[in-house]
Formats: sequence, structure tokens, C-alpha cells
Amino acid sequence: MKIKELYKKYSLPTYTRAGPVFVKGKGSWLWDEKGRRFLDLFPGWGVSILGHCHPGIVKAVSSQAHKLFHLPNNLYSAEQALLAEDIVKHSYPAKVFFANSGAEAVEGAVKLSRLYGEGKRYEIVTMKNSFHGRTMAALSATGQKKYKYHFRPLVPGFKEARFNDLGDLKKKITKKTVAVLLELIQGEGGVNVAQKEYIKGVHKICRSKNLLFIVDEVQTGMGRTAKLFCYEHYGITPDIMTLSKGLGAGIPVAAFVVKKSISSVITPGMHASTFGGSPFAARVSREVFNIIKKEKILDNVKIRGKHLFQTILRLKDKFPFIKEIRGMGLMLGIELSVSSYPFFEEALKRGLIINSTHGNVLRVMPALNIDKKTLDKGLDILEEVLKSKEAHSWRRSS
Ligand SMILES: Cc1ncc(COP(=O)(O)O)c(C=O)c1O
Repeated sequence: MKIKELYKKYSLPTYTRAGPVFVKGKGSWLWDEKGRRFLDLFPGWGVSILGHCHPGIVKAVSSQAHKLFHLPNNLYSAEQALLAEDIVKHSYPAKVFFANSGAEAVEGAVKLSRLYGEGKRYEIVTMKNSFHGRTMAALSATGQKKYKYHFRPLVPGFKEARFNDLGDLKKKITKKTVAVLLELIQGEGGVNVAQKEYIKGVHKICRSKNLLFIVDEVQTGMGRTAKLFCYEHYGITPDIMTLSKGLGAGIPVAAFVVKKSISSVITPGMHASTFGGSPFAARVSREVFNIIKKEKILDNVKIRGKHLFQTILRLKDKFPFIKEIRGMGLMLGIELSVSSYPFFEEALKRGLIINSTHGNVLRVMPALNIDKKTLDKGLDILEEVLKSKEAHSWRRSS
């Protein structure tokens, strides 16, 4: 039976899938079952930060697979402890809890906030347009009706404020508020970048009202914005940071990182994960840190990010339907005045993978080690796509 027929017959239809069946990847390239090559400027939805099958990751995977895959979390694993050390040494004095997905990391941060509030304060202010995952608390924290509507009743205690609007945040804070949770760049919400003054203001409010400042770095973390963590651009340190996606560069792993000074609110038995921080995932994640350092990935993100931004700016002059370009490092959103999905589809037909989000935003998030030639090739195809009659005629007939 053909693969797509198997999907139709056996898979729960939760995703809109497009394109061919992919069988192989290397660097910024993917191959389908017919041997056709695709340039992937959105590898793994922000996960595959070192491209597909980076040799260092392949080596770490295979060597750890011969040693030890899994240990329960009531035993000690060297790899997990060393990864926690890596994270803390690269961020702030903190304690780390390991999970497996972004939503789980957010769940953990929410639970810790409830402990911090000691039963008296439990409300968390999150942002309109935000995205924090699909489990019930992460979904309740997400500021987009389209994801939440069908799943009511939601977890109580979440309030939405307008992003980049300090006045609105102040209005949403009550005596019951315990934390503020936000993405510094709203990825799924259309690549909306938090303003520096706004984040400084949020930080100040959190300090003055004894609120936890939780930064969701699931998408922006691990070098995506040319700093290891996006909060570093803002001159603040969060109380809790959530990580996933690039943390494992393809292996499921996540973490929430709690400032040491508040970490004692959680005690044994209060939170757990069977798979979280397995020796296997931890070893691979440690290799991600090694490679970021060894291959000077942050420098590459800075240089390529600048080039990406400037090239797309030039495209903006050519195509009046490009409204705005937003982003940081190698995380870029191109807001169109028309639907973006036909452009995603046309790009796929032409062998280029990008993303369409929020109805009218094209998202480009290449591997952080992409070279100039490959990026330029992708940008050339993107220009052809923006020009193409097909994407535009689809738009007219839709
Ligand atoms: C900022 C942010 N937080 C949380 C999540 C949820 O992550 P996961 O799908 O791994 O649960 C995502 C996923 O896109 C995300 O972008």
C-alpha cells in the first residue's frame, strides 16, 4: 500500500500534510522516495538546528545507543547531570527539570508557578497571539482562540494581555497573579518580536510585584537568534525558561530551567517524567552544545541572519504584497497582504520547504549552520515563488 494511503487509513487526521514522502536528509537537504531533492529552509519546524543528520549528532546517537538508552529518574545518570550543568553554565544559576516536548516544559513551569503562589496566587498572564503547546495547561496558556475553542473547559487561571503593551499587562495583573509567561518572539503567532523596552518593563513589574517572569524559549532558544538564548538580547534574566526543539536537534528532549533562588518550592514527588532527560537524549543534547561551540554556530547565525534579512528586504521592494519583514537571527517572518499558504505550496512544488503561519506569514527558519551558497539558492527559489503565476492565480481563485 502506498504511504499516503496508509496515512489515510491508519493515522488520526490531526495534521494538514503536503508534499511527497520524505525518506532521507542531509544538512539543509531532504530527499523524497523518488530521489528528488528539496532545500529545507524550515528543518523540523525549528527542531533540526544543525540540519539533518549532522555527523556529530549521528556519532553521539550511535555511541550512546551502544551504551545506555534509558534509566528511570530514581537512579543517577551521568549524562543527565552533565547536560543540566551545560544548560546552567550557559544561562544563569538555576536548577533544571527534563521533559520531552515544549508543551511539557511549559506544563512544568505552570506547576512550579502554582507552588510559588502557595495556593493563594495562581493566575498567569500570557499574551494574545502566543503559542505554548497542545496539552491542556499549555493550551490554556496559548493566546489563540482557534486552538482552544473546541477543548473548553480550559485550565483556569490564565489571562491574556496584548503583546508589547505594558499598560494592558498592568490591567491584567490582580492580587491572584503569580507569573507572566511570554515568548520573546512569537513564532507560531506570526514572528512578532518583543520590544526591548517592553521586556525591560515586564521584568520590572515582575520584580516589583513578586511575579515569576517565565520566558518560553522553545523556539527561540539554542542559538536561533544569534545568542544562545533570546533573553540575552534583552538584558534581563528570566525566573524560568522553557526549552525544547533545538535542545535535541532532532531527538525529543525539553527542559524548564528555574532560577536557583526559587527552585526550593518544588520537592521530591511533586513532578516527574518517565522519559525526561534519558541518558540517550541527554548525550545527544550535550553534543548539540559541543557543536554550537566548536562550529561557531552563533557567528554563522549572525552573518547569515543579516544576509537573509537584507535579501528579503530587497524582495519587499519588488513585491508590493510583502507588508512587513520581522525577526531576529535565523528566524524570519514575511507578512503578506494575501494568504501565505499558496506560496508555501508553490515553494514545495519547486523543491523548497518554508512554512506558512498565522494565515498570511511565511516563516523561514533555516538550519543554524547553513552556508551562504545554500541559503542563496533557497532565496532564489523563494523569489521565483513570489513571482510565480501559480501562487497568485491560486490566490485569485480561492
Ligand atoms: C514557543 C513554543 N512553545 C511551546 C511549543 C510546544 O512544543 P511541542 O510541540 O514540542 O509540545 C512550541 C511549538 O511550536 C512553541 O513554538
